Amino acid sequence: MTEFHKEQCFINGEWLGKGQTPITNPANDVQIALVPNMGADETKKAIAAAKAAFGPWSKLLAKERSAILRKWYELIVANADELGALLTKEQGKPLAEAKGEIMYAASFVEFYAEEAKRIYGETIPSPYPDGRIVVIRQPIGVIAAITPWNFPAAMITRKVAPAFAAGCTAVVKPAPDTPLTAFALAALAQEAGLPDGVLNVISGDAQAIGGAMCESPDVRAMTFTGSTAVGKILIKQCADTVKQMGLELGGNAPFIVFDDADVDAAVQGAMVSKFRNAGQTCVCANRIFVQSGVYEEFSKKLTIEVEKMKVGFGDEDGVTQGPLINDAAVAKVERLVGDAVGKGASVTTGGKLHELGGRFYEPTVLTNVTKNMDMTTNEIFGPVAPLYKFETEDEVVELANATEFGLASYFYARDLGRVWRVAEALDYGMVCINSGILSTEVAPFGGVKESGIGREGSRHGIEEFTETKYMLMSGI
Ligand code: SIN
Repeated sequence: MTEFHKEQCFINGEWLGKGQTPITNPANDVQIALVPNMGADETKKAIAAAKAAFGPWSKLLAKERSAILRKWYELIVANADELGALLTKEQGKPLAEAKGEIMYAASFVEFYAEEAKRIYGETIPSPYPDGRIVVIRQPIGVIAAITPWNFPAAMITRKVAPAFAAGCTAVVKPAPDTPLTAFALAALAQEAGLPDGVLNVISGDAQAIGGAMCESPDVRAMTFTGSTAVGKILIKQCADTVKQMGLELGGNAPFIVFDDADVDAAVQGAMVSKFRNAGQTCVCANRIFVQSGVYEEFSKKLTIEVEKMKVGFGDEDGVTQGPLINDAAVAKVERLVGDAVGKGASVTTGGKLHELGGRFYEPTVLTNVTKNMDMTTNEIFGPVAPLYKFETEDEVVELANATEFGLASYFYARDLGRVWRVAEALDYGMVCINSGILSTEVAPFGGVKESGIGREGSRHGIEEFTETKYMLMSGI
């Protein structure tokens, strides 16, 4: 049985570095680990290790890579309780959600263990009598992955599992707040038999590590989940080496409730979409538009549900919302709520720091929210549900699309014509109809406009880790 509570970085199969940077529990600031503070030199070593490992790993049979991924999946599932507890400690989300994330993370490893065997090419009818056209897909090479703190496990496996399935090797930089889950996943990958150098995990100076990743001509793809601002910097930094980019960036999700919706179902959908991970997801409902005929009913019912939430330490029984990740996150939520209330929004529940203090914020519902308030154009990334009133379908589609973002969108309606019209009109990479959650390993997750480039999950998630090679076989 692997001891996966590691406090060192993982380079070329070795656990390296000494504890320098404290990792604290966001619920109470208690130090839970000391991790290394690595930089450009160690990143270069990790890239070299990944480059050396690429040849042998990519030459394994797809079935052999698949078997190792399958074993990794089984180990993650077997250790889901402990991994969940570790994740709660470093990230703060309630245990049930943390374990849910571990299973979500595992699902990508399982899916791509299967998909490794299905990276098909094609043949194309040739225009030449003595020629045949064959297209194959080959692994792109070493990839760099930069992952966020809000999903410390799933955003790693959603990136590296398809990369490994394709035959690529990886250097991962987890978020500085949450490296322990990343180290634990690496320890389990090692136990599963992943060869040295295929996965490397480095934590430390974000700019130095990211800079070395971007500059290196040996890194052929950059995959990142995080803010649009950082995504734009990475695009610029990767330009000189013309890397493949996979970017999952910010969102500003509309959640629309039409008059013909099942209001109770819409309330349940809003609860999951808005309050999962204390509102700290890129796909969280950020603007809840409710048609005037059901506005009162929806706001009353949502307020009742929100008041049932239990805020507290993630490892306490019955807790449904943990702390926010850091002080800056709390300050941002306070500022946005203050701005909205100052401009005329009403608080039906919550609206302030929770009595536990620290980084605990009350689950909040705001009514009479209007588009001149700052939260309309900013990702709240906190447990605040702002309700906007609208009258017509055309009006709400225009409001929903009035953003530079285009990741997830949600709406509740029963009229079939409206369902098709609105789904097609929403300028988003993902449209979730009559449900509040759309994340699954079998579907392509990703955005349009400034929400990103590429898709993760499903068979599409493997595309950015392969190159398409056209071979003209002539002289036949
Ligand atoms: C994210 O917030 O970045 C990912 C959310 C998800 O996969 O559901």
